[in-house]
Amino acid sequence: MKVGVFIPIGNNGWLISENAPQYRPTFELNKEIVVKAEAHGFDFALSMIKLRGFGGKTEFWDHNLESFTLMAGLAAVTSRIQLFATAATLTMPPAIVARMASTIDSISGGRFGVNLVTGWQRPEYSQMGLWPGDQFFGTRYQYLSEYVQVLRDLWTTGKSDFKGEHFQMDDCRVSPMPQAPMKVICAGQSDAGMAFSAKYADYNFCFGKGVNTPKAFAPAAEKLIEATAATGRDVSTYVLVMVIADETDEAARAKWEHYKAGADQEAIAWLGQQSAVDTKSGSDTNVRQMADPTSAVNINMGTLVGSYATVAKLLDEMAEVPGTEGVLLTFDDFVAGVEAFGSRIQPLMASRAHVEAQVPSRVTKPELAAA
Ligand SMILES: Cc1cc2nc3c(=O)[nH]c(=O)nc-3n(C[C@H](O)[C@H](O)[C@H](O)COP(=O)(O)O)c2cc1C
Repeated sequence: MKVGVFIPIGNNGWLISENAPQYRPTFELNKEIVVKAEAHGFDFALSMIKLRGFGGKTEFWDHNLESFTLMAGLAAVTSRIQLFATAATLTMPPAIVARMASTIDSISGGRFGVNLVTGWQRPEYSQMGLWPGDQFFGTRYQYLSEYVQVLRDLWTTGKSDFKGEHFQMDDCRVSPMPQAPMKVICAGQSDAGMAFSAKYADYNFCFGKGVNTPKAFAPAAEKLIEATAATGRDVSTYVLVMVIADETDEAARAKWEHYKAGADQEAIAWLGQQSAVDTKSGSDTNVRQMADPTSAVNINMGTLVGSYATVAKLLDEMAEVPGTEGVLLTFDDFVAGVEAFGSRIQPLMASRAHVEAQVPSRVTKPELAAA
């Protein structure tokens, strides 16, 4: 199983709680996390794009860096880990995104890919005059289909003459082209989003579900298998989960309860209002799940709470779900969490045994001892 880290590009990571670690996003913090992740053999790091926060006492996500420029910086200080930035496709023309991606491909030596999002939160775009109107909720994946065709043209041939409803290219050029095939992520969950991923993406990301119910996301993986049966393309599922681990189950559970007790209700209420605006995408979307009041303190992503051994076992169970290629991890404390994953959890995982044997931090120890 592949493992990635969803780096904290926004303040406080993914915990909407006064009792969680309070911090602002910086390049230095994200560098420390990604360099450590690389040393422990993580396969990739992804940053989201978020242009408007949720407010409340914790000012949740009111402070966010920009995804492509952050990943460009991280590309320069890493050497092996794959890096993905997120494109808010309403804000940047595809020919500019294609060129930015080619640039980071050059900085990283072919380790870069792009997560394409349509946007689900109107104020992110209306605040800058870029929201096309609420009918966009129903047409956003048509827009994204045109967008990705322009990207693929430019990345694979260096030019595009694509003519669509939203984009008209006229001998558009991008050179240099990327040295490695540019991988595309989408996190569509609606029928239209999944159909998009099956047709155009390389990976589809979904939310894990529940607390210590590692296979509860299986219906989303199954839905992608059905969608790819129609297109014949190889697109795999990656699952977003938060890891809250400690020496014992009790200690980890106490942290989780503490975070929930400090939930920032004002920010959570705003999330609920925003996700209710979209009445056109269907009911089975990540956005609806995010606003479910039962565990909105971490945006309702699936949560693994327990001792290092418990979390290792739960992650191995996730790897068994058909169609699942990887997990995308968040942590309550990213620096300590990535370290604990690498040194305590991963060595216990059957699904990571292949990586464990090659982890640089493990391999260098005997060498150091010998020296
Ligand atoms: C791992 C992951 C990363 C995501 N990153 C972003 C992001 O950076 N910006 C954003 O607006 N939406 C993001 N989303 C939301 C998705 O793009 C998508 O809109 C959502 O999952 C709902 O699916 P739907 O668009 O098919 O309704 C993300 C979702 C997941 C699961």
